[in-house]
Amino acid sequence: MYIKELSLKDFRNYNKLDLKLDAGVNIFKGDNAQGKTNILEAIYLCATARSHRTHKEKEIIRWGNEYAHVMINLQKKYIDDIIDFHLSQKSKAAAINKIPINKLGELFGCINIVMFSPEDLQLVKSSPKERRRFIDIELCQIDRLYYYALKQYHKVLKQRNVALKQYARNRDLSAIDIWDEQLEEYAKEIIKKRSEFIQEINNIAKCIHEDITGGKECLQVVYEPSVNLDDFKYKMLKFREKDILYQTTSVGPHRDDISFFINEMDVKIYGSQGQQRTVVLSMKLAELSIMAKYIGEEPILLLDDVLSELDDKRQKDLFKYTQNIQTLITCTGIEQSVWNTQKIGKLYYVREGNVEEIEK
Ligand SMILES: Nc1ncnc2c1ncn2[C@@H]1O[C@H](COP(=O)(O)OP(=O)(O)OP(=O)(O)O)[C@@H](O)[C@H]1O
Ligand SMILES: [Mg+2]
Repeated sequence: MYIKELSLKDFRNYNKLDLKLDAGVNIFKGDNAQGKTNILEAIYLCATARSHRTHKEKEIIRWGNEYAHVMINLQKKYIDDIIDFHLSQKSKAAAINKIPINKLGELFGCINIVMFSPEDLQLVKSSPKERRRFIDIELCQIDRLYYYALKQYHKVLKQRNVALKQYARNRDLSAIDIWDEQLEEYAKEIIKKRSEFIQEINNIAKCIHEDITGGKECLQVVYEPSVNLDDFKYKMLKFREKDILYQTTSVGPHRDDISFFINEMDVKIYGSQGQQRTVVLSMKLAELSIMAKYIGEEPILLLDDVLSELDDKRQKDLFKYTQNIQTLITCTGIEQSVWNTQKIGKLYYVREGNVEEIEK
């Protein structure tokens, strides 16, 4: 799939923008703070109904305005879709082919993206929360049932935590029992799907990593669930006293993690910076391939400022795996190697919320 057109209205530092994109590589070049990442953020928003850098989406609305709007015209294998995303100070709303959708979750899977930004390079070292986010964003895009289970799980989790707090006053264990039962149903679904997905990521990332490192490193990606499928009930009861004391739920998928091993060494603890980067690159490329398999066509790749963070060889490896994928790249300058290896479709210059196509 590829984006044919992108329009922004009062989005971050854009007053109005209408862009026609190339089906191949699109490079957005410009100084810092000019609006390059804002373009990728707009696409991310249409794909996931949220921003990749803020939880308060109203921050996106251009200062002094009431509304922001993104429109994407998307060419898929058999059809084309128009996605509209509206933000107001109070709400978010979207439409697919001009028909408003009831739940923003319906956007998942309508446009499929893989985003790679400098923060992702910290994925191995960063908090478990970021690693869970990595799994969730991917799984939600390819599996609607997962999205639903995850949403319900977090809703029930919130209720259980309220019941834990109320226990101090009402001593009512039955309220906690009710939430435990529901939590189990959704938790099991999440654990099962995460487990299968990470197994798949592991199989693919392992081959890619071996290729990038010239056969020197054997990567293993391991799912570390906070609780297993068969001992959920047992663990919830075991930790209940502690949960009541701390008024929060201490086990469950919201505490899951992933570990990475290279030649059986824990990369989180012992990996060099270069090794951690290569692991993330292998993971991202595996993500692209899994998504393509599930949706039956290539997703869109968004590369925010990552090229300068990767050495020449790794940049080439990245492009080797992204043939025939619409790619949007932001950078402050263009690396010679990109010029050399890439057939650039379009090159844009971004300055103070204006985008100008330039001759190559
Ligand atoms: N709600 C908003 N209204 C108006 N301008 C905004 C808003 N939010 C952010 N900006 C402006 O957008 C610009 C940042 O845009 P963006 O993050 O896309 O920059 P960039 O070109 O990616 O820069 P860098 O190279 O540093 O990553 C800043 O000038 C910031 O002040
Ligand atoms: Mg940026």
